[in-house]
Amino acid sequence: MSQITVRGGKPLVGRVEVRGAKNLVTKAMVAALLGDAPSELRDVPHISDVEVVSKLLQLHGVKIEHSDDGTMSLDPTNVKSARMVDIDAHAGSSRIPILFCGPLLHQLGEAFIPDLGGCHIGDRPIDYHLEVLRNFGAVIDKQPNGIRLSAPDGLKGAKISLPYPSVGATEQVLLTSVRAEGLTELTGAAVEPEIMDLIAILQKMGAIISVDTDRVIRIEGVKTLGGYSHSALFDRNEAASWAAAALATHGDIFVGGARQQEMMTFLNVFRKVGGAFEIHDDGIRFYHPGGDLQPVVIETDVHPGFMTDWQQPLVVALTQAKGLSIVHETVYENRFGFTDALVQMGAQIQIYRECLGGNPCRFGQRNFNHSAVISGPTPLHGADIRVPDLRGGFSHMVAALAAEGISNVTNVQLISRGYEHFLAKLEALGADFTYTE
Ligand code: EPZ
Repeated sequence: MSQITVRGGKPLVGRVEVRGAKNLVTKAMVAALLGDAPSELRDVPHISDVEVVSKLLQLHGVKIEHSDDGTMSLDPTNVKSARMVDIDAHAGSSRIPILFCGPLLHQLGEAFIPDLGGCHIGDRPIDYHLEVLRNFGAVIDKQPNGIRLSAPDGLKGAKISLPYPSVGATEQVLLTSVRAEGLTELTGAAVEPEIMDLIAILQKMGAIISVDTDRVIRIEGVKTLGGYSHSALFDRNEAASWAAAALATHGDIFVGGARQQEMMTFLNVFRKVGGAFEIHDDGIRFYHPGGDLQPVVIETDVHPGFMTDWQQPLVVALTQAKGLSIVHETVYENRFGFTDALVQMGAQIQIYRECLGGNPCRFGQRNFNHSAVISGPTPLHGADIRVPDLRGGFSHMVAALAAEGISNVTNVQLISRGYEHFLAKLEALGADFTYTE
């Protein structure tokens, strides 16, 4: 198991580049499957989520080339069925395979999707996805290690209302409806920037999609779609992670590729905590301007609210704020597991099952520890910590870099699932660490 030994207490200073968003590029790759011509996707990071989806697409006959500069070509003109055992072997811990359903049903009339993996931050159900597929006319058979789908009467447009603006379920509707027969109307849709970028890609392919007010998306199905040429939206989650790292280590990090528009909610909170930033044409400079960090009350939410993926790295900075901060996590029911390691390092964090700091949410009366109170400032000292998931793992690294003394961080490979060239970036920022496979 890969391990990093960190000598903390040094400010992170320097420049890192973020490329295409992990949570967009993998969906854009699946979208290429719907086309009858090759596509080109630019700024695709070399991360394991991309490798998993590449392998699954290649299993289905898609030719893929991914160059060092991040340009990926995808040729779906010879799509074919794949053996269940191979799909199962390659799906790994990704949740993206569930998004193959619509495109494979359109191309082949059948699909096999293995049971899904993904980070352990709640039970990550797929009930909305299955409901959506049934609405389009898919027949779903549960198999021992996954689900087999067919569409005996083809896929027809449907009127769908999501009980929660789920990003994945919205993508499921988009990827299935664009070539379904007739009209689809989706209410309660997610409208994250990554969703809007996927809609832009589908429109380039020939889809007819409109995003109306109050989260209503309408799609007019078309018979065929072409290829696309697209530069992926930057990874605002990675950008926010480095910003939080700058704050927690009293550092100064220029994040090349970051743009203000998609990060405005984060920038407001970053400023309220006491961070400073400068918007440039080629990125954003995030730095600790000196003085005390201030406590804040944060409630995570769907876009344009404060992203759930932003809270873990920021909590590390809040352990250094002067006073009590509150984080009310309303998107996932169990996303504070990472705070155990921070407490081990000296942080004062208490998690509660009540909805604290804001409006009652769907987890309030269901016994989930989904609110946290962080009391600071507390000096952090090194500890032996094991990375639990992608975003929590990044927070553990930030805490180790901010702490006085030595920390051994294991299970680090989980971090490189979503942060391209992670170790090289730490090195570029002056972090003092050694890495062992
Ligand atoms: C996407 O996950 C992202 N992952 C997540 O990022 C992100 O945190 C999340 O959207 C919210 O923005 C990818 O894009 C690969 P959801 P997704 O469907 O689509 C419940 C990261 O670290 N739900 O919006 O799985 C679900 O349990 C990851 O990059 C159902 O109940 O998120 C959760 O409570 C972490 N049934 C809520 O909806 C379903 O069928 C939001 O999930 C689907 C979801």
